[in-house]
This record gives sequence, structure tokens and C-alpha cells, in this order.
Amino acid sequence: MKLKILVVAGDGIGPEVTNEAVAVLKETAALGGHEFTFAERRIGGVAIVQDGSPLPADTLAAALDSDAVLLGAVGGNEFNSLPPDKRPEAGLLQIRSALGGFANLRPAFAFKELAVNSPLRPEIIDGADILFVRELLGGLYFGQPRQWNRATGEAWNTMRYTKDEVTRVARVAFQLAQKRRNKLTSVDKANVLEVSQLWRAAVTEVAAEFPGVTLEHQYVDAMSMHIMNRPRDFDVVLTENLFGDILTDESGVITGSLGMLPSATIGGKVNLYEPVHGSAPDIAGKGLANPLGAILTAALILRHSAGLEAEAVAVEMSVRKVLEQGFRTPDLARGNYQGFTVLSTTQMGVKVRETVKTQLVNA
Ligand code: NAD
Ligand code: IPM
Ligand code: MN
Repeated sequence: MKLKILVVAGDGIGPEVTNEAVAVLKETAALGGHEFTFAERRIGGVAIVQDGSPLPADTLAAALDSDAVLLGAVGGNEFNSLPPDKRPEAGLLQIRSALGGFANLRPAFAFKELAVNSPLRPEIIDGADILFVRELLGGLYFGQPRQWNRATGEAWNTMRYTKDEVTRVARVAFQLAQKRRNKLTSVDKANVLEVSQLWRAAVTEVAAEFPGVTLEHQYVDAMSMHIMNRPRDFDVVLTENLFGDILTDESGVITGSLGMLPSATIGGKVNLYEPVHGSAPDIAGKGLANPLGAILTAALILRHSAGLEAEAVAVEMSVRKVLEQGFRTPDLARGNYQGFTVLSTTQMGVKVRETVKTQLVNA
């Protein structure tokens, strides 16, 4: 199996966590005799500083010429006063748009090994396994017009969707639900917003193509409560861009930490893989970052771009085993280190790779 992977590590903890993800991919390729090649390019703040643009042309060209793109994170406090189109985050939105993937899959499942570290009671989260499907190319992020008019003291953004944009992401979500527990929850704000009414109507129409899947609708405000109170009741959760951004960070509480969440964006020219978390300037450069979200993102590359399901499962199992053995990055121990061995980013990467090796050699 051959795979050409572009790594755009970005800012803050981005390079720290992608290093560990890449090392896992290299280990997996070496053990299975697969030919994975890696190239690196700049994106985000580091690209603004060195190239004068958050998405340099050669980064975009390399991304379009690869089989998969692995992105770390972008953003830094030094860029906070820039307008949105000049910021590191603009580079991320541009690469998403250019690669064309509209379905952002964000799995969030409770690791029983982490229940002891969760602020939620074990009996609430035990067995929770949600797959968020976040629409990634529409809504407020890309809608026009958008402006901050300083002279008049007004600013506006536009939440816009076409029926086709909703239909195509809904089909992906229903297909995924068919392979899981045949339940789909669509999240909107149809009691207030026209765009959500269109969303709900389009999703309901697609549901007719999937009679085996049960569809329910929830308002986003209530949903943000339900996923904390009864996360086990949800299977596939489909929602628009901004609601999905917010609900998936919230679901980090179910998994134990935002640093555990992976994502894969499919449906476009080249799949884009990113952990859900950001550049975490508060802990960057200190070896404190949890690399497991990035490593689980590497597992998604193995599954969705390399077609190596057994290897993907081996990586996911290895993450579980390492947690089972009591190894934690500081975000997971949440101040309670008793009974745990706290590891740095690179030490955690080494533990996972050792375990992957054992898993794959014994397979
Ligand atoms: P963040 O996700 O970077 O951090 C939120 C909190 O979670 C912080 O306390 C951080 O230390 C912690 N955290 C995040 N990832 C962690 C990890 N792997 N291990 C341990 N702890 C982790 O969100 P923020 O602080 O709101 O944003 C910081 C910057 O990142 C901003 O510029 C934002 O725009 C950007 N951002 C980028 C992406 C991306 O590139 N995909 C995603 C989200 C935010
Ligand atoms: C995410 C991030 C991005 C988003 C930002 C950095 C543009 O928060 O991937 O969740 O809002 O999509
Ligand atoms: Mn986010």
C-alpha cells in the first residue's frame, strides 16, 4: 500500500502532536511493508511570519497533490488583533475549502479507562459512542456578506445553506448511521432560524432514502444539555458548521479531554485529517500536550485513506491499552495523579508505538 501524506503541523502544540502521529504512521508502515511518504509544508501563524500568507501557494499545491493531509493546529495570541481573513485560522478555512471535504467526522467515545478522570459520573458516560458529522464548508464560516463596519459600529455574518449542501452531508451521515446503530440526530435551531428550517426539511427528505435509520431532530441549546446528561442515547449526530464546532469541543468532556478527539474530513478531492483541539498556546512548547487525539487521527488516515482497517483498530486499541496501564498526559489526570504515571507528549507517543508494535507483530 502506497500513500503520500502532506503534514501541515502549524502552530503551538500542532508540531508536537503531529510528530507523534507521524511516528505512529511510520511504525505501522514499517511493520506492514507499506510505503508511506511524508512531505511537510507551512500553514497558519508560522506561514504568516515566514511566507506572508496563512496558506502559501506551495502548501496548497502540495496538499492537492497528496493522498491525505494531516493538519496539527493553527493560531496564536500574537495574531488575535488581525481581521479574520488575515489570521492563521483563515489558512485552515482556505485549505478546507480548497480540498473540498464537506463532511467532518468527529468521533467522541468514552474510554472506560478515563472514566475515573472525567467530571461526569462513570454511569453517565459508560459506553457513550457518538459520531458527530459536522458540515464543514457552509454556514456562518463562509456565508457572504460578512463585515465589521467600524464607522457605523455594526458587524454582520451570514448563516447560509443551500438545500444541496445539506442534502449531500445528510446522505453521508445516514450512510454512516446504517453502519452503526441506525440512529441519526439532526441538530438545528429551527424554532428561530430560516436556515435551520431549510436544514430540517432537507434532512427529513433524505431520511426517506434510509428507512432503516431512525431520525430525530433536536434544537442545539437542548442538545448541548442532552449530550452531557445522556450521551449514550446518541449515535450519529448531524449538524451545521458552527453548532458542530461547539458541540464537539463539549463532547471532549465525555472522552476525558479535548486532547483525545480526532477528526477526518471526507467528500472532497483530498481527505483532511485534524485533531479537534487547537494550538493550545497556554501549554505549547512544554511537552504537556496530549498527542492521543492526533494519534487517533492517524488511525483515521489508516482507515479512510489507506484502507488499513486492522492497523487502524490496532492503533485505537493501543491507545486504550496505554490508558489501561495508567499512563496519562496531565490534561487526563486533571490534577489527580495518584495511581497514574504522568508522561510528556513524546513519552506518550513512545508508549503508544511500543504497544502498536506488539499488537501488529502478534496479529
Ligand atoms: P485549544 O483547543 O487550543 O485549547 C483549549 C484548552 O484545551 C486549553 O486549555 C488547552 O491547553 C487544552 N488543550 C487543547 N488541546 C490539548 C491537548 N492536545 N493536550 C492537552 N490540553 C489541550 O482552544 P483555544 O485555546 O480556544 O484556542 C487556541 C488557538 O487555537 C486559537 O488561535 C484558535 O483559533 C486555535 N484553534 C485552532 C484549531 C485548529 O487548528 N484545528 C482548533 C481550535 C482552535
Ligand atoms: C476547529 C476549530 C476551527 C473551526 C477554527 C480554528 C477555524 O475551532 O477545527 O474546531 O472553528 O472550525
Ligand atoms: Mn473548534
